[in-house]
Amino acid sequence: IKDFQVENEPVLGYMPGSVERRELEGALEKHSSRVAEVPIMIGDKEYRTDLVQHQVMPHKHTHKIAKFYWATHELVQKAIDVAIAARPAWERVPLSEKFDIWLKAADLMAGKYRQDLNATTMLGQSKTVIQAEIDAAAELIDFIRFNALYAKEGTKWQPRSPEPNSTVNKLRLRGLEGFVAAVSPFNFTAIGGNLAFTPAMMGNVVLWKPSDTAILSNYTVYQIMREAGVPGEAVSFIPTDGPVFGDTITKSPHLAAINFTGSVPTFQRLWNQMGQNLNGYRSFPRLVGECGGKNYHLVHPSADITSVINGTLRSAFEYCGQKCSACSRAYIPESLWPQVKDGLVSIQKTLKVGDPCEFDSFMGAVIDKKAFDRISGYVNHAKSSPNLTILAGGKCDESVGYFVEPTIVETKDPKDRIMTEEIFGPVLSIYVYPDSQVDQMISLANYSTPYALTGAIFGQDQEWLHKATEALKDSAGNFYINDKSTGSVVAQQPFGGARMSGTNDKAGGLQYALKWTSPQAVKQTM
Ligand code: ALA
Repeated sequence: IKDFQVENEPVLGYMPGSVERRELEGALEKHSSRVAEVPIMIGDKEYRTDLVQHQVMPHKHTHKIAKFYWATHELVQKAIDVAIAARPAWERVPLSEKFDIWLKAADLMAGKYRQDLNATTMLGQSKTVIQAEIDAAAELIDFIRFNALYAKEGTKWQPRSPEPNSTVNKLRLRGLEGFVAAVSPFNFTAIGGNLAFTPAMMGNVVLWKPSDTAILSNYTVYQIMREAGVPGEAVSFIPTDGPVFGDTITKSPHLAAINFTGSVPTFQRLWNQMGQNLNGYRSFPRLVGECGGKNYHLVHPSADITSVINGTLRSAFEYCGQKCSACSRAYIPESLWPQVKDGLVSIQKTLKVGDPCEFDSFMGAVIDKKAFDRISGYVNHAKSSPNLTILAGGKCDESVGYFVEPTIVETKDPKDRIMTEEIFGPVLSIYVYPDSQVDQMISLANYSTPYALTGAIFGQDQEWLHKATEALKDSAGNFYINDKSTGSVVAQQPFGGARMSGTNDKAGGLQYALKWTSPQAVKQTM
């Protein structure tokens, strides 16, 4: 496949006085000064139920920004019926026309609606401007644009016809028979757009259940895709209670696939429910999932100290450690520790935690009360355990917003639960090891958690880097050498993990769009 010579969407700078900054300020004002009304969308119709919900700003939880409704079981069922009825017509739309719609949508996102995407992500998901820009603008636009380009290129391949005068072989790429359920998380607006709309681009009909805590940004994505030309029947937008959605879709004989990003228990629950309904399906539903992580930074004594300090702080604390790729455990050699510790602690003091819409904030609040309670539970564990020492941070305050300070914990026990369980918050745990035990650290990085999403090694000793890279082959879907574990870019580092982190599928690469097809081989004899 050729490289398209298309650049990734540039990340804008938002310098004082810049056009983008002025436009963003306007969008922030617009979206924070009203409570947006977000209906359930099935086909072309809006639905509202008695199950009224609100999205609040995590950094000011008394402030509502959206009113929305949970779909009932009956409405989810209706969405399935509408999708199944619409499937033949949507599938008949030639792929080339669909790709044009997606390319148009990417342009709308990059231009007219960029600041609506950013503002709704900043207000609703408590992202700072840079974190919103790399997600709801750059990554989302890249997903939509590159998937269309990859699919355009990838669908050109046809099987051999060695005797073309007598026999012609073709591969016809159909959408999956049935509907695709897309279940997306709060932490990246881009992920919701990708999970729902890439299967739709390949001819599938999709039921999209967005996260309650990302409703407004996700609805903005939905509206832009509709404006670009995606018919309402191709993708339904269905906020609802997770179990109601899960129960309804897994009981439908038409379930063709689940495209999921979220927690391990939720994904396992869906597998379980599918297992119980297996005899009822008309096909074997395809499961694509990205789940948790407990991502590591493993530092060799030969590492460059500045890269370790900056990379680790950024990976652990940008977006409050709520990126699936965030570094949550680090292994640092004793010989480097005094300097690394000094750097981590002194920079931590300068990181401003507050309203993410203030341009000098480094972190906003964590997403909701449930996250706040879980994360502060780990901070309290660090405060009370004799094996653990809080080196910086540790303050949790939910009086105005769900704020947790960036917290650095040193542990004497590399297997303490703070080093092995997913926290999904701004808590970085560090084990300082004797330099002579660096090889044991490879083993700990690899096997002390059930996950394999991202991992990073730091060092200048080439022989060790080579050895560690081989030994850690299965430890991460996205592996970094001398760089932080976050920040994958569409079409550059396709993203997704293994083990309990996911189904080894990669978003942001060639295979992703093609996965959402059912290929039919056609042999015609003349
Ligand atoms: N693309 C995001 C990252 O790598 C998940 O940080």
